Amino acid sequence: MKPCTIIIFGATGDLSKKKLLPALYHLNIENRLTDDTKIICMGRREIAQDDWKEQVSEYVSSKARNGIDAAALKNFLAKVSYFKNDINDVASYQDLKDQLDDSAQGYSPNIVFYLSISPSLFGVVGDNLASVGLNKEEGGWRHLVVEKPFGYDQKSAAELEAVLSRNFTEKQTYRIDHYLGKSTVQNIFVFRFANLLLEPLWNRNYIDHVQITHAEQQGVGGRAGYYDGSGAMRDMIQSHLLQVMTLIAMEPPADLNDESLRDEKVKVLKAIRPITEDMVDSHAFRAQYAAGTVAGKAQQGYLEEDDAPAGSVTETYAAMKLYIDNWRWRGVPFYLRTGKCMPESKAMIAIRFKKPPQELFKGTDIGDSHANWITMGLQPDNTLRIELQAKQPGLEITAHTVGLETVEHEDEKHKLDAYEAMILNAILGDRSLFLRADEVDLAWKAVDPIIKKWSKEQDFVHTYPAGTWGPDEVSQIFDDSCHQWRNNV
Ligand code: BG6
Repeated sequence: MKPCTIIIFGATGDLSKKKLLPALYHLNIENRLTDDTKIICMGRREIAQDDWKEQVSEYVSSKARNGIDAAALKNFLAKVSYFKNDINDVASYQDLKDQLDDSAQGYSPNIVFYLSISPSLFGVVGDNLASVGLNKEEGGWRHLVVEKPFGYDQKSAAELEAVLSRNFTEKQTYRIDHYLGKSTVQNIFVFRFANLLLEPLWNRNYIDHVQITHAEQQGVGGRAGYYDGSGAMRDMIQSHLLQVMTLIAMEPPADLNDESLRDEKVKVLKAIRPITEDMVDSHAFRAQYAAGTVAGKAQQGYLEEDDAPAGSVTETYAAMKLYIDNWRWRGVPFYLRTGKCMPESKAMIAIRFKKPPQELFKGTDIGDSHANWITMGLQPDNTLRIELQAKQPGLEITAHTVGLETVEHEDEKHKLDAYEAMILNAILGDRSLFLRADEVDLAWKAVDPIIKKWSKEQDFVHTYPAGTWGPDEVSQIFDDSCHQWRNNV
C-alpha cells in the first residue's frame, strides 16, 4: 500500500458515479487505501462539501456489494472532498496546487490524476497541470490515468498521444482498457502459462480457428449521441476484443514485468496481416439492430433511439477476421464479433481444434470425427470447458461429446469490478493492465482500413431484429464452410 492523493477530473460524470467512486469505496473496505489517502473530486459546479458527500453516499450505496456498511462509508467519506475546478483556468490549478502544498492538510505528494473527461479536454488539463508544475515528479510520483476512446482512428490517436506526451512521459501514462482489469480476462494468461498441457497444442498445427465473442442485451439507450460517431468496431473490437486476442496469441513473456508483458502483446499486434481496402468485405461485416424483443421486452430499433441521426448506418454489430502472420499462428483465422441487443449478455472465447488426421471411425456408428473445443467464458461466469469425444456406455461403439468443465462463480464478497484492479494498479505503479502507446497505435492500424471503407459506404447497412444473434450474411467472412459462430460455452 502506498499513500497517495487521487484527483478525479469529471468526478460528477457518469463513469465516476457508477464505477470510480464505488471502486474506491470497495478498495477502502479491502484496506487497499492507506489511512492518509485522500480523494479530490473535481467538478465545474459549486457544490458544498456536505452536499457532495451526501451525493457520494448515494452513488456508493447503490453499488455496494454487500449492502452499505455505515462505519465503512463514514471512513470512506472522510477521505473524499470536492474541488470546484474551471478546467480552462490556470488560476484554478494554482489553487489546487496551493491546497496540495499546504502541509497542514496532509496531502500525499504521490498523485494519481484520473481523467474521466472527454479526450478533447486532455490537452488543456495536461497543459494547465504542467503550468503549475503538477506534472513534475518532485517529492512524489504523478500517474496520469486516461479513459478511452483514444482517438477515432490511427491518425487522431497519434494526435492525442502528442497532446498527452507534451506534459507526461510514457511511464507516467496509464491508458485504461477495463477488460484487462477483469479477473476472467487475467485468467487467460494464467490458464495458458501456468499449465504445461496446453502449450504443445497451442499453435497452427492443432488449432483450426479461434472465436472471440462479446454480446450484450443492452442497446445504446441514451448513448446514441456518442455512439453514433463510434460504432461497434471502434467501441469494442479495436479496444477490448483485440486485447483479449493478444492474450490468447502472445508468446510467454520473459518475466512478469509490465514491459515484458506489453512487449509480447505488441509483437502479436505487429504480426496482424494488414487488411487492404479490397479485402474489407471478406474480412469484416457490420449490421445495425432493428426493432425486436430482447429478454421478453420490446426493444426499439437503433434509428428510433434518442439522438440517433436519421438514416445512420452506424454498426451496433461488427465482426472481423484476422490472421497473425507468425510461426505460431500463420493461417489460423481469429474471428472477433460484438453486438448490442443480442439474445444474451456474455463474453467468451471458443477455440476449435483440427480433426484427427485419420478418419478411423468413418463408416462405423461413430461416424465422421468431431473436432475438440476449448471454451472460456469471460462473463457472466468464469467457465472453462474442454470438449472431447468418448465412447457411450453399452455394447455398441458409439461416441458422444463429453465436457471437462469448471465454473467459478464468484461469491458476492469476492466479486470484483474491473475498475478496482485498474485503480489499485495505477496507485501501485504497475502498468501491466494498461495500454502502451504502441499497442493503441497498432490496434488502430488493424481496423483503420475497415472503418475508412465503412465511413465511405453510407447507403446501406444490414439489419437484425433486436434479440437475435445478428444477420446470417456474416458468414461471408468465414474461411471454411464448416466455420460457424458458437454461442454457448
Ligand atoms: C465499453 C463500451 O467500453 O464497454 C460499451 O463503450 C460496452 O459500449 C462496454 O457496453 C462493455 O463492457 P462490459 O464490461 O460490460 O462487457
